[in-house]
Amino acid sequence: MMRLLITGCDGQVGTELTRQSRALGWTVKAVDRDGLDIVDPDAVNKAVRALMPDVVINAAAYTAVDKAEHARVTAFAVNRDGPMNLAAACADLDIPLIHYSTDYVFDGSKSDAYVESDPVAPLGVYGESKLAGEQAVGEFCSKHLILRTSWVFSSHGNNFVKTMLRLAAEREELGVVADQLGKPSSAAEIARLTLQILPGVEKYSGIYHLAQPDVTSWFCFAEAIFEEARRHTMVLKLEDLNAIATSDYPTPARRPANSELSCDKLESTFSVRIRPWRESLSEVIGKMKDGSVE
Ligand SMILES: NC(=O)c1ccc[n+]([C@@H]2O[C@H](COP(=O)([O-])OP(=O)(O)OC[C@H]3O[C@@H](n4cnc5c(N)ncnc54)[C@H](OP(=O)(O)O)[C@@H]3O)[C@@H](O)[C@H]2O)c1
Repeated sequence: MMRLLITGCDGQVGTELTRQSRALGWTVKAVDRDGLDIVDPDAVNKAVRALMPDVVINAAAYTAVDKAEHARVTAFAVNRDGPMNLAAACADLDIPLIHYSTDYVFDGSKSDAYVESDPVAPLGVYGESKLAGEQAVGEFCSKHLILRTSWVFSSHGNNFVKTMLRLAAEREELGVVADQLGKPSSAAEIARLTLQILPGVEKYSGIYHLAQPDVTSWFCFAEAIFEEARRHTMVLKLEDLNAIATSDYPTPARRPANSELSCDKLESTFSVRIRPWRESLSEVIGKMKDGSVE
């Protein structure tokens, strides 16, 4: 039986954490941005002191990768100062903090999977601000888990799966980038593993990669999404899915060409197995088909 404080509870990961931890019968205070703005240090201090949780989980973040290029101040406020406020409040009360970071702390130049100790070199403001958040948590709160994840999807919130299904319902032809590699990760699997490894937060403090096998490209992920959608008898207008290059799809933020995260450290330290993303994708699309999309 655990007592948790979950911030950013309306996001993809926050929603799943809240649902799954409550299903375990734990005592959970889940707060959205209106309930607790993590940028406000006094509010953060007050909230942590009022609950005195066993663990704080920060699922709040500024996640708009392209918008961040023109919103540096906001991105750093939420992604660096927010975790710093939580880490300082937790450290004062000797409470462990679990925080999420991103594959975008890497520049993508490595030819195989990134391990936790690989050099970081973010390509954009979002990655820079998340890296600054990792550093703040590491500096202020010794009892922590920093879980770097990637390509998050869920039936809840905004993500690639939902964008693809919306576009495929509207268009006959679609081009998707085939030269960026990474690991899609469902919010449900991230939450499941977070809650499973949570008791080890003090003993095994540190940075871990948490993403679902196997590595793929956005194009192949899109193919899988449409296969699953058709298998679940969703009606799609899409006829032609074309592989395109990153250079054919310019975006404000540069993205790593390879952001495959090796998760060996997490699996061996905590003796857990991460499920393949394909299984999670099928569940998410099944949920969307049932109309249980939030
Ligand atoms: N999404 C991805 O593909 C991805 C990839 C790699 C890593 N990650 C990391 O994984 C974690 C979870 O991501 P996610 O996809 O669940 O994010 P998300 O769906 O964008 O949710 C983030 C939540 O944080 C809230 N928030 C924003 N500013 C806040 C503030 N100042 N105080 C409190 N709450 C605030 C947002 O509320 P509003 O909606 O009101 O803004 C939103 O509900 C994040 O640390 C993210 O950086 C995500």
